[in-house]
Amino acid sequence: MKKVSVTTLRNMKEAGEKIAMLTCYDATFATILDTAGVDVLLVGDSLGMVVQGEDSTVSVTLDDMIYHTAIVRQGAARSLVIADMPFMTYATPEQAMANAARLMSEGNAEVVKMEGGEWLADTVSLLSSRGIPVCAHIGLLPQSVHKLGGYRVHGRDQASVKQIMKDALALEKAGAEMIVIELVTRDLAAEISKAVSIPVIGIGAGAGCDGQVLVLHDMLGIGGRYMKMCKDFMQGNDSIQQAIESYVEEVRAGTFPAKEHGFD
Ligand code: KIV
Repeated sequence: MKKVSVTTLRNMKEAGEKIAMLTCYDATFATILDTAGVDVLLVGDSLGMVVQGEDSTVSVTLDDMIYHTAIVRQGAARSLVIADMPFMTYATPEQAMANAARLMSEGNAEVVKMEGGEWLADTVSLLSSRGIPVCAHIGLLPQSVHKLGGYRVHGRDQASVKQIMKDALALEKAGAEMIVIELVTRDLAAEISKAVSIPVIGIGAGAGCDGQVLVLHDMLGIGGRYMKMCKDFMQGNDSIQQAIESYVEEVRAGTFPAKEHGFD
């Protein structure tokens, strides 16, 4: 059982093997997901909503992320662990470097994730040059929900298509190891996945991406957040372990997401 690294993910993309990623917030679930074959555990700041009961991710702190990342690492023998940088912890490259260093040294994160497009390129470049692997998050940016005025599908007009493609290319050039693309039309996400050589992991972005991620609570059908882009994997399975294994199988086979989980 070899530990998954950013190189493993790049090799999987090259081999056309789909990457299965899920969010995770504690050691017990980390062991379950790891054993079920999930390649990447994302300690998402979605924990603000599904663990802390808030209505957005904005109130999550760096200390919260350090705590949850450290306990997820306890259960992740094989899976790669990525930790979200919370709202306003990477507003400048220097601030990002100091906070990413804490997430890695105190939280034991293996990769840090930040939301943003072209403007984030200098930050990605600085972190990458100092040995910090970065996953960039483009498309819908949940930390900007109050500026955006809500959660909606991106890439439905020419300006937005052009901008999101530019974002992906700029972030790859700056040294990002991978990209998460959220709530974007399936054609655009597929086009971006072909245009860059780093892995592109979709959520609500169709089956044309190099891999998929879902929020753990949503795919287990707990917490009452119904979303078109999600599937309840507990339906038809008798245990959480089986539900996670089904998710991994469906992502690998390219049968999840189906057409009804995506957007035009
Ligand atoms: O915080 C999170 O869970 C995420 C996923 C939605 C990709 O960023």
